[in-house]
Amino acid sequence: MILDGNTPDAIATAAQALQRGELLGLPTETVYGLAADATQAAAVAKIFSAKGRPSDHPLIVHVADMADAEHFADRLPTFARQLMQAFWPGPLTLIVPRAPGTAQAAAGGQDSIGLRCPAHPVALALLQACRDLGVRGLAAPSANQFGRVSPTTAAHVQAEFGDGLLILDGGACSVGIESTIIDCTRGVPVLLRPGGITRTQIKAACGLDLLLNKELLMPTQIAPRASGTLEAHYAPKAPVRLMSAKALQTAIDILGPGASGLAIWSRSPLQVRAAQLLVRRMPDDAVATAQQLFAMLRSFDDQGCKLIWIETPPDDVAWEGVRDRLQRATAATVVSAPTTVKTA
Ligand code: TXA
Ligand code: MG
Repeated sequence: MILDGNTPDAIATAAQALQRGELLGLPTETVYGLAADATQAAAVAKIFSAKGRPSDHPLIVHVADMADAEHFADRLPTFARQLMQAFWPGPLTLIVPRAPGTAQAAAGGQDSIGLRCPAHPVALALLQACRDLGVRGLAAPSANQFGRVSPTTAAHVQAEFGDGLLILDGGACSVGIESTIIDCTRGVPVLLRPGGITRTQIKAACGLDLLLNKELLMPTQIAPRASGTLEAHYAPKAPVRLMSAKALQTAIDILGPGASGLAIWSRSPLQVRAAQLLVRRMPDDAVATAQQLFAMLRSFDDQGCKLIWIETPPDDVAWEGVRDRLQRATAATVVSAPTTVKTA
């Protein structure tokens, strides 16, 4: 059932459901989450089973403010505090040492915890209402089946989990891709997942260079796990290929006027003679592209496209989050079925 998240009644209903240990579709500025009380192990277990997600993959815990973050965290490093002050509420998740005894199930058994204070007004109103009921944090992964495209509207969440799930409608997400995740447990900030906040912004806020996970050469078994960092993730049903504008134009020309079953998302204008091709224009800037990305992939699937061709985004730090999601969507393609685009 979808409720308008902007009404106080809906916020109260949702907070009570969470307190009873039920799940909720939660709007945030990045993507919609599938939320439960982070401190109730049985409620958290429902998230893992609804998503089909392995139960040792840790979840992000959403909090109303820094004071509630301190409840779940132990020994916050100075740079983590600086990043919270600079970007919260906002699309930044910090992995920090976990206070012993808190949110064990949500943390997937790790001794660290991922914390985020979201900037969406409905999410913040809900987190405050939850706190009034004694619920101090909401565990919430993205509200999609494991490995699939993240949801950016209430209708997407309903399409993933059906009408039995209570969902707060907070409109279309303004950021559109998941939060930037920074690991703060290794003495220096380490980027685990690029997202709404860029590397340049992080450095400006804490004065430290952001390392990439792979630069640390850590054996994977001791590096924190992040399912959003799996190579194949965020995949629509149709296979995705990334191509330069030139390669796109050549491929379209080869297919000829009778081609069908193909969707194209490009920034550069293309000459397309085939009336059956679905061609969409990608915005010129990274922020607007991120906002549309997952909804675009979903709409290509919904329209029955068998193959998706996307113009490779610019190699620029502002596009890092978009590039990351698109590369993972293509990585999933390698294991997909052969394509069935008709040429004439
Ligand atoms: O924007 C977002 O971050 C959205 C919204 C709903 O807040 N949430 C989201 O959650 O993307 P999810 O579960 O799809 O991705 C969270 C990522 C996962 O890759 C998870 O493994 C990682 O965060 N993570 C959470 N806690 C962690 C921890 N203690 N150590 C390492 N990685 C962690
Ligand atoms: Mg996810």
